[in-house]
Amino acid sequence: MSKKTNVLIGATGSVASVKIPLIVKTLKKELGDQIEVRVVTTKPALHFFKVDDVQAQVITDEHEWSAWTKLSDPVMHIELRNWADMFVICPLDANTLAKAAQGLCDNLITCILRAWDERRPVVVCPAMNTNMWNHTFTALHLKTLTEVLHYRVIPPISKLLACGDLGIGAMADYRTIVDEIRHLVQERSSEASREGNSVQMENTLKTCGCSNAEWDLHPNAMRNIENTGTDEQVRELHSKCQHPCTTQCHTAPKQQQQQQQQKRTQSPCRCGITEEWDLHPQAIRRIENEASSEDVAKLHQLEECKQHSL
Ligand SMILES: Cc1cc2nc3c(=O)[nH]c(=O)nc-3n(C[C@H](O)[C@H](O)[C@H](O)COP(=O)(O)O)c2cc1C
Repeated sequence: MSKKTNVLIGATGSVASVKIPLIVKTLKKELGDQIEVRVVTTKPALHFFKVDDVQAQVITDEHEWSAWTKLSDPVMHIELRNWADMFVICPLDANTLAKAAQGLCDNLITCILRAWDERRPVVVCPAMNTNMWNHTFTALHLKTLTEVLHYRVIPPISKLLACGDLGIGAMADYRTIVDEIRHLVQERSSEASREGNSVQMENTLKTCGCSNAEWDLHPNAMRNIENTGTDEQVRELHSKCQHPCTTQCHTAPKQQQQQQQQKRTQSPCRCGITEEWDLHPQAIRRIENEASSEDVAKLHQLEECKQHSL
């Protein structure tokens, strides 16, 4: 994969923000060669950790506002939205949860959420006092986050909370959060390699010159080399392979190009002039190249072609 995964971490005003330096440190240690990390934080969250203790850039509302002075300046929440491949808010406090569920956007984190590209994952790790967690609003807001916005939730755990209460509400263990991020990073890289393969396959088809159907007949091993090997390896493969398709494939590129060229110059279009024919709408050119003469003749009856064939 060519590009690292950009992980955006969000910190809100829960005491669990004390874990931000540890989460970032662990991510860098365990996934450092695969990810870039940035942290965005609300003002209250800054009470719970020192920016200098975080091994990543920490961006606040103040940065967002001071970065913009004139029209050509970047808007930071949009820049960050474009940069991030995933957004993990750990901790998500009751206040930001409520705002996110209602689409409010009055600070950097909620603006990023509101401008978010919904195809990319958002993970939230709620952390709050037990009564806050048990409050009717919490379930309602989380339902919106999961069912409407499709965020992933790492639920809180039960323990003696910083406020002295014993019960559910503490942010999930940092290891659970790191493992979820690792999982998402892996998911993203397998997707990227699948996409890469299909692009390579298309390129191969162009190099090889086979039609889709012909290429599908190649033995698997050959297709693998065609997808992953160098041009030289592919040529060598084509010269050795005994598969009937190979002979065709071996000679195909030039032959096909010539045939195509012939078809193009001998296009049965009435305009008869290559440059004009090149201007025909793509669909017509395809039919002229691939269909029987009868169909082509029928095509020429069409108003569109008549208009074009000056
Ligand atoms: C010491 C302290 C600890 C807090 N811990 C939590 C918490 O764990 N969860 C929570 O939802 N709110 C907690 N709060 C309240 C939030 O900080 C408060 O609602 C704040 O407005 C949240 O703002 P933000 O969502 O913009 O970060 C705490 C407040 C204080 C003073």
